[in-house]
Amino acid sequence: MRKNIVAGNWKMNKNLQEGVALATELKEIVSNPNCEVIIGTPFIHLATVSELLKDNVIKVSAENCADKASGAYTGEVSAEMVKSTGAEYCILGHSERRAYYGETYEILKEKVQLALANDLKPIFCIGEVKEEREAGKQNEVVKAQLEGSVFNLSAEDFGKIVLAYEPVWAIGTGLTATPEQAQEIHAYIRGLVAEKYGNEVADNCTILYGGSCNAKNAAGLFANPDIDGGLIGGASLKAEDFKAIIDAF
Ligand code: 13P
Repeated sequence: MRKNIVAGNWKMNKNLQEGVALATELKEIVSNPNCEVIIGTPFIHLATVSELLKDNVIKVSAENCADKASGAYTGEVSAEMVKSTGAEYCILGHSERRAYYGETYEILKEKVQLALANDLKPIFCIGEVKEEREAGKQNEVVKAQLEGSVFNLSAEDFGKIVLAYEPVWAIGTGLTATPEQAQEIHAYIRGLVAEKYGNEVADNCTILYGGSCNAKNAAGLFANPDIDGGLIGGASLKAEDFKAIIDAF
């Protein structure tokens, strides 16, 4: 059966010392979780935090990687470099990267392939903006995002991916999707995976919810059959808050 996961996405928060302090605190308070626990940190934290959490239940993720393997791409960080830090996961396709850094379906397709080729598990984010939700277009948006960047993969490779449905209107806004809204679209997404790869792959696919998920609403969201955990922004920046979400499982 599929894994339940609670993953943090620190985004561009915490300097190295603050990040190490948070990871150390989490290491102390998270034990025997009933789900996989991942923290997504900025690139510069990865090596230190991975070493700190070596053999720990908490796994480490990057928040991005380059769309090129190596070479003259000043300032970029490749999937191979991420892997060499000890990180196991890589968040890709976050709406902030799509919106602010022009990441297209094609670019994300390259990033996903490079992550997989370097033995990193992508946490691939999809989700509609407010206007698309208001126009009732959320299903077609997430379908196009999947078709554009990950439905080219073999069933074996797709099986290594975690999906994260993150409605853009719920990110950092305090406006969470209701459990019913989230379950409805998660079931739709799983149905798309089943159509493309069959029921077994769909049953094994972890689909996380992200967008103002917190200690208060996590249990109600995670109780739904197609919501397999959360991708947590703001509430992952304080150890106690993040732990409370983990404890929702
Ligand atoms: P918030 O939890 O701060 O809304 O952010 C969600 C998110 O973007 C996680 O990737």
